[in-house]
Amino acid sequence: MSLRDGPVGWRRFVDDMILRGAQLNPQEADTVAQYLAKSFGPGTSPMQSGLKTDPLPPGDGEKLVESHCALCHDLGRVTTITRSKDEWNATVSNMMARAGTNVASQDEIMTMASYLASHFGK
Ligand code: HEC
Repeated sequence: MSLRDGPVGWRRFVDDMILRGAQLNPQEADTVAQYLAKSFGPGTSPMQSGLKTDPLPPGDGEKLVESHCALCHDLGRVTTITRSKDEWNATVSNMMARAGTNVASQDEIMTMASYLASHFGK
């Protein structure tokens, strides 16, 4: 209940738990994944990381990160780490994929990755 994730992310968790032995038939797995995505999806009181969140530094992509990256967890998860441009690209793509299709365009993903690499890069 403390986790937040999108339909794709929840589906992965459910499939993973079935691999580990959870007893659900395919139809039940669908129902559970849909229920979780609806009740504990993006925008439903995001998980708190307890990590300090300063306001985002201004720049191209700031608003995109603000609106896309605090839906499932707070921005502390994002602003307290440093990653290379490639690593940010992989992180942002993974996060947007788990949120579901059409949450961010390829262009928006690139803009967010560039912004993050220039402010929280290494
Ligand atoms: C659909 C929900 C969702 C959205 C939207 C989302 N995240 Fe996440 N994020 C998660 C989940 C779930 C975890 C794993 C939490 C855990 O294991 O405690 C996570 C963990 C992370 C982590 C820590 C793990 C790692 O890869 O080091 C980072 C960094 C992160 N997210 C960055 C982002 C960024 C940047 C964005 C915006 C582009 C974003 N997130 C948007 C769901 C989301």
